[in-house]
Amino acid sequence: MNVSSDTPPDLHGIGFVLRRPRDGDAESRLRLGRHPEIYRMFGAGRSLPGLFSHGEATSWVARIAGHPAAWIIDQGGLIGEVRLDSINHQDRRASFAIGIFDPQLLGKGLGTAVTKRVLAYAFDELALHRVSLRVLAFNERAIAAYRKSGFSIEGRERESALIDGEWHDDIMMGILAAEFDARRDAPGNE
Ligand SMILES: CC(C)(COP(=O)(O)OP(=O)(O)OC[C@H]1O[C@@H](n2cnc3c(N)ncnc32)[C@H](O)[C@@H]1OP(=O)(O)O)[C@@H](O)C(=O)NCCC(=O)NCCS
Repeated sequence: MNVSSDTPPDLHGIGFVLRRPRDGDAESRLRLGRHPEIYRMFGAGRSLPGLFSHGEATSWVARIAGHPAAWIIDQGGLIGEVRLDSINHQDRRASFAIGIFDPQLLGKGLGTAVTKRVLAYAFDELALHRVSLRVLAFNERAIAAYRKSGFSIEGRERESALIDGEWHDDIMMGILAAEFDARRDAPGNE
């Protein structure tokens, strides 16, 4: 099926749902705040305030609500966001972005499961041909999660991020529809 609607459906996975915003999300996002360990992975420096303002939380929810392929990651409540950005229907490609905002929930397999669920939507429902992403080279946890989801490293952009006065490289990763298909039936890819 090729979906052209601007409102993506909820996507269900084991123990989580990827859903559209609803009442109370801005308050939940406000409570999660901006953990420095997590925001460093997005390229933020030490000077970024840890507290989210109410206005920022409201804008964050509005951005997801107005996005054609963005979801709130809900695991017993709002814990993060995931998006397919820059969807290009001519070349059938998009870029992937994800963030879990609660540090207690990192490294427990959720990011990989969510990534696989969104890739299934990208390839099966949007009929995309490839999905790509960029990730800071020091973000080894994310790179491991992306590899487990089927992404391959396609390149390295040297010194493309300046964080607290130091240059860092970005890793470019991608996955093709055929590669995702080939992994569906592989052992361990339930
Ligand atoms: C990136 C992110 C979505 C991955 O989700 P996750 O649930 O934490 O990742 P998973 O548990 O599915 O997989 C992480 C893998 O990295 C491994 N890992 C954990 N910490 C690691 C570290 N410091 N270095 C290397 N590998 C690490 C884990 O062991 C796991 O591999 P395994 O299952 O083979 O043991 C999540 O960590 C996150 O939101 N991080 C903060 C924001 C961020 O980095 N966003 C991406 C920006 S490009």
